[in-house]
Amino acid sequence: MPARNDAALEFLLSRRSRPAKTLAAPAPTREELRPILTAAARTPDHGKLEPWRFIVVEQPAMARLAELCTETGARLGKSPEDIAKGRSQFDLGQLAVAVVEVQTASPKVPAIEQSYSAGAVCLSLLNAALAAGWGANWLSGWASHDRGFCEAAFGLAENERIAGLIHIATETTAPPERPRPDVDAITTWMSA
Ligand SMILES: Cc1cc2nc3c(=O)[nH]c(=O)nc-3n(C[C@H](O)[C@H](O)[C@H](O)COP(=O)(O)O)c2cc1C
Repeated sequence: MPARNDAALEFLLSRRSRPAKTLAAPAPTREELRPILTAAARTPDHGKLEPWRFIVVEQPAMARLAELCTETGARLGKSPEDIAKGRSQFDLGQLAVAVVEVQTASPKVPAIEQSYSAGAVCLSLLNAALAAGWGANWLSGWASHDRGFCEAAFGLAENERIAGLIHIATETTAPPERPRPDVDAITTWMSA
């Protein structure tokens, strides 16, 4: 029987994101981020396809992404409000890890399982950053789902897409507690 890890359980029972707009400098250094990325890459992955990779968006790159977001929004006919909302994560961002889902054709591993694994990497990365004492938040936004933006911003290939943008920096204010699901309402116990 494995030893009970109370600290890990306590973390999982109390963890919560810190809204990206409340994060400030400093962001983790490359050295500080490496073990967080290593933890995130230790994620269930059917067939060991490793259907994900990381692009670390450091602060100096944020301005380029913000401008690209405006150009993309104009091309798509987005409203000024949508454009402002879409680019705000880059205007305010200190550091974000783009988790890239990398699809490989496989007779054994359906595409959706590769997507699930990429989503699991996002949560592991978020949790590792929080456990390391950083504030962190998983964002998407319309730009992250736009092919043109993803190719120009991140150089994604055809078989790649953004699973999540995980912002990591220093918490400034504690967010209010978020109502959590009623576990009994979402759980069915099947005994036969
Ligand atoms: C795939 C995905 C995309 C998300 N995108 C956004 C987003 O663009 N903006 C936002 O405010 N929250 C977004 N969220 C929600 C937050 O990341 C998060 O669920 C919420 O802040 C509560 O997280 P917590 O359970 O870690 O406290 C997204 C969540 C997921 C799973």
